[in-house]
Amino acid sequence: MVNTFFSKLGDYISPGDRVAELYHGEKDDILSALSDIVGENGMVYGVDLHNPFRSFKYRKYYKHMRDLRKRHNVKLIKAKIPPIPLEVSNLDAIVIREFLWTQEYVKGRYKDYINEAVEDPIIYIEMNRVLNNQGHLILHLNPTDEKKEKDGKGNYHQIIKRQFPDFKKKFHKRNMLVYQKLK
Ligand SMILES: C[S@@+](CC[C@H](N)C(=O)[O-])C[C@H]1O[C@@H](n2cnc3c(N)ncnc32)[C@H](O)[C@@H]1O
Repeated sequence: MVNTFFSKLGDYISPGDRVAELYHGEKDDILSALSDIVGENGMVYGVDLHNPFRSFKYRKYYKHMRDLRKRHNVKLIKAKIPPIPLEVSNLDAIVIREFLWTQEYVKGRYKDYINEAVEDPIIYIEMNRVLNNQGHLILHLNPTDEKKEKDGKGNYHQIIKRQFPDFKKKFHKRNMLVYQKLK
């Protein structure tokens, strides 16, 4: 089956764009795809708390990440969000897989990531700050998210409506949810 996310990424990101994947984790697949799309005149930032991953479990991806670091249009930054590091600014798109990482970790779990009380507004203020007007927030949904978001009443959509009132939903199909910043 066609992977909607990867086949549609190029509809929202163009050569020369500045983009960031936040909370990218150990896998390089999204960062690599972004780097291919933005090309030599663009820039891809990856921001994660544990960057790079050195654990035995992630050794395969660690090698991929090391290779990715050699690309001139990729910069991986080890940082805790918030804040979003200063050089990660003026973005045409923010990409996140597993948007629940924008939720605060409360008592050992993410509280099903629906509770307003666990939403740290600073994280969303930061995302808004670094994203250009007309820029896109692109979410990759895992199979569980996909089911939840299907009817348009999912957690992510609610969080975005609360935290980004000026963002407009542009696309939602299978594992991809896209919003555009309009102010
Ligand atoms: C499940 S993992 C990877 C998720 C990744 N997006 C994926 O789909 O493979 C979640 C990641 O979020 C990162 N993370 C959690 N809290 C963070 C924070 N406050 N700032 C930056 N990274 C954070 C962790 O280091 C971890 O790599």
